[in-house]
Amino acid sequence: MKPEERREFARDLAGRLPGGFELGVATSAFQIEGATHEGGRGESVWDAFTTQPGRILDGSTADRATDHFSRMPEDVALMHDLGIDSYRFSFSWPRLQAEGRGALRTAGVDFYERLLDQLDAAGIASMATLFHWDTPNALERGWFARDTALRFGDFAHAMGERFGDRIGRWVTINEPATVTLNGYALGVHAPGATRLFNALPAAHHQLLGHGLAVQALRAAGVAGSVGIVNVHSPVEPASGSEADAAFAALFDLLHNRIFADPVLLGGYPTFPEEFAPLFSALTEASPADLAVIAQPLDFWGLNYYMPTRVAAGSGGSATPDGTSAAMASLPFHLADWPEFPRTGFGWPIAPEFLGTALAELASRYGSLLPPVHLTEIGASFADAIELDPDDGTPRIHDGSRIDFLASHLDAALRATAPGAAAASIDLRSFHVWSLLDNFEWAAGYTQRFGLVHVDFDDFTRTPKDSSAWLRYLAENR
Ligand code: FCB
Repeated sequence: MKPEERREFARDLAGRLPGGFELGVATSAFQIEGATHEGGRGESVWDAFTTQPGRILDGSTADRATDHFSRMPEDVALMHDLGIDSYRFSFSWPRLQAEGRGALRTAGVDFYERLLDQLDAAGIASMATLFHWDTPNALERGWFARDTALRFGDFAHAMGERFGDRIGRWVTINEPATVTLNGYALGVHAPGATRLFNALPAAHHQLLGHGLAVQALRAAGVAGSVGIVNVHSPVEPASGSEADAAFAALFDLLHNRIFADPVLLGGYPTFPEEFAPLFSALTEASPADLAVIAQPLDFWGLNYYMPTRVAAGSGGSATPDGTSAAMASLPFHLADWPEFPRTGFGWPIAPEFLGTALAELASRYGSLLPPVHLTEIGASFADAIELDPDDGTPRIHDGSRIDFLASHLDAALRATAPGAAAASIDLRSFHVWSLLDNFEWAAGYTQRFGLVHVDFDDFTRTPKDSSAWLRYLAENR
């Protein structure tokens, strides 16, 4: 698209945003904060993982990340310049409870108090995630241990008591599916376990932790609303064969349904007979646990990145987030989408599948689905800094990111318009992943997702063209 066409499309989108719809950006603590040894912060499973050889593509750690811990006021100023309404960030659990239990650390509390002060002054609403993957390493066996769910409930209570009057929206857990699959089943993410289907206790314990956290926040009397963030990837079989269809349905269960059904419907889905024994960790869950997990929510957070195509048969070790030897031993694999262009990560750019994701949520959960926030939408591209020929100002012409964001917002608005497949969904916001280029987990610093470019040597921030796009969208509402 040409710049003028992009502006026209942005004006069109702005005009179609529902009343009260919020625009925002998202980040997570481990990916941006750095300062991993300051103020008595404890070690997280990710700190430990990044020091293991071969785990991170570029061999990096998040010890400095974007240096947000020191540059937070500058980052809030950047958000203010974007004209956004909402900032989704995460609290670092090990910064607040070094050992995953006990009194909240003063240095951690002070940092987030200052962040909230800055956001208030900038007129930006807060959406705070309690767990975005940085499990305190002191919690033995991480989410394999049921006790971690109880510790998380306690953490939520302490946070609710401390910050309950200041947070607009609380998110308990970010993407328990990714933590389970990448972290405990395939070994691509921390803690690097490769337990395949034996990873499922980690799913149940996160969901239990979610339910306990909802109860704890409400018991602490928080003023804000409470929800969860799940990633939803529509799944398609690679061919019309019965085997591909069976494994695609299995993957939909694994990636989407087991994380949404118990929260919204009160129970795990019914598993096809041939696969049922694999899911015993879930089917044997007690009614008491299921009742905790199914706490009524004020909102549903949806992260969308891409659809998934599944084929029967083992077919290599590729996952969207890195290679996994364990993946190669499964009886199915993830197939390519040659018909779609790709992001820098190689992920298919398929905005229509955001519409599919919304339609699937609407048809599966109907009136049981609370209002939906798009809590992460974004893409990595190989952004290059160019010096403006006229005045030498650094510029990053990330038109691909603008087109990605615009086409996905368009798809979401179309899917939820009157008469469309997800018309029943009350869509409330669109948060771009991410404000800043940051530490992208197993990919280290090789994938830039930011609206703002970060120089990882001196931490200079340079807004990309996509920043101007978001501001233009916000201004033209
Ligand atoms: C999501 C994560 C987020 C970021 C994006 C690219 O799964 O929630 O932290 O890494 O992917």
